[in-house]
Amino acid sequence: MTPSTEPEFYLTYQDSAGGIPLLLIHGFPLSGRMWDLQFPDLAEVSRLIAPDLRGHGSSMATPPPYTMTQLAVDCANLLDDIGINRPFAVAGLSMGGYIAFELFRQYPGMVAGLILAGTKATPDNAEGKKGRDAAAALVQAQGVEALVEQMLPKLFAPATYQEDPDLIAFTREMMLETSVEGAIGALAAMRERPDSTPTLTEIEIPTLIIHGAEDQIIPQAESEAMHQGIAGSQLVIIPAAGHLMNLEQPELFNEAVTNFLLTIS
Ligand code: MLT
Repeated sequence: MTPSTEPEFYLTYQDSAGGIPLLLIHGFPLSGRMWDLQFPDLAEVSRLIAPDLRGHGSSMATPPPYTMTQLAVDCANLLDDIGINRPFAVAGLSMGGYIAFELFRQYPGMVAGLILAGTKATPDNAEGKKGRDAAAALVQAQGVEALVEQMLPKLFAPATYQEDPDLIAFTREMMLETSVEGAIGALAAMRERPDSTPTLTEIEIPTLIIHGAEDQIIPQAESEAMHQGIAGSQLVIIPAAGHLMNLEQPELFNEAVTNFLLTIS
């Protein structure tokens, strides 16, 4: 895989060891800890690697802007560094899904299965790009805290947000670990990400698409469109869950992913 051009650079990561490798790529502005409720179950069927992306969690930040290619290469280099030279499965949630598409394009033959959770193939439209600029300006002026408070209620189904204060506190704390550089860098990467719609018909590997029925960030129609576009893909809608369906309904999420992994390992 591509050697890192930044010898000082490193990512922190969790690694469960054992089974088919499954790279778990978190959303924005989160960290590898968003997969904590997946580790106990999924580690029984796969070797889980859950990095903190550049500028997120405990990983190093570099000055913005970032690109989707750079974030994908970071993940591939991490796998290389820890000796994973065989095809692997990728699960990406939201921004993690954008990176999963990029890995699929950049490393032909290496991605053995795709799990696309709460994500979309379409790029940012003009309004979406304006939203990225406003979010970056907010972080620059007021810090990551301001963005976290704005985003947090939208990440969950309304009932989860009302009734699960521990989960909300855990998520807030995780989001606050994102650095200013990391948040602004990732916002730029999302703003400029390519349209992955043309990629859909090129995906001939097993693909599982998962969507929270009450997602307030990405409409379910985006998952339905990916399901239509990717031949042979499966679509699972998780009830009573929003954008972070893996944290809100971990049992249903883990069951869907386990069944999927068993078909490809
Ligand atoms: C995410 O959850 O990763 C982001 O909210 C996705 C996005 O803003 O496009």
